[in-house]
Amino acid sequence: MLAGSVFLFLLVMTLFFVVTRKGAMMKRVSARSWIIGGGLVLPLPILIALTGYALYQGERLIGTHDDRTPMRIEARGRMWTWDFHYPDLPGISATANVLHIPAGQPIEILLTSSDVIHSFWVPRLGGKIDAIPGHVTRLRIEAGRPGSYGGVCAEYCGAGHAGMDFRVIAHDAEEFERIMSGNIR
Ligand code: CUA
Repeated sequence: MLAGSVFLFLLVMTLFFVVTRKGAMMKRVSARSWIIGGGLVLPLPILIALTGYALYQGERLIGTHDDRTPMRIEARGRMWTWDFHYPDLPGISATANVLHIPAGQPIEILLTSSDVIHSFWVPRLGGKIDAIPGHVTRLRIEAGRPGSYGGVCAEYCGAGHAGMDFRVIAHDAEEFERIMSGNIR
C-alpha cells in the first residue's frame, strides 16, 4: 500500500510539474488522450489490483485458507467493556477486558455487541472487524509466541470509546492449561 501510494504521489507530482512548468509539452497530448489514458487506462489496473488484494485479505481475515481447527472464543462488546467467553473450555469463567489464548494456535473470535457497533482490533495478531448488535461476525487471530498484546475498540461508540481497550495474553501450552484450570479472571 505504501509503495503503491508513493508511486502514485510521484506520478501526480511529476504531472503537476510538467503542467505548471512545461506548458508547451502538454499541448502535444490531445484532450482525448488525457481522458482515455488518465481516466480509463491508468485507474483500471490499479482498481482491479486493489479489489483482488482486498478480497484475498478478506478471506485471510476469517481464516478461509487455514485447515487447522481453531479454538473458539465469544467476544461481546458493550459500552465500554469487552466480555470474553470460552465455549471450547467448559467450566471456565468469562473474563472482562483480558483475553487468554494459547500461543501458536489459531483462534476464532465470534464477535457481537450488546448495544452499538464496536470494532475488535489487536493490530499485532490479526485484522479488524466490527462487532454488530444482533449479528455474529468472525475473525481469525493467532499469536506466534507468548506475550501480552494490546487491543482497542476501533469504531467510535460514545463517550467511553477511547478507554475501551483490552489485552490479549498469549500463553505457552503448559501455562495456558495451568491458568485455565486455576480459572483466572
Ligand atoms: Cu466500542 Cu469504540
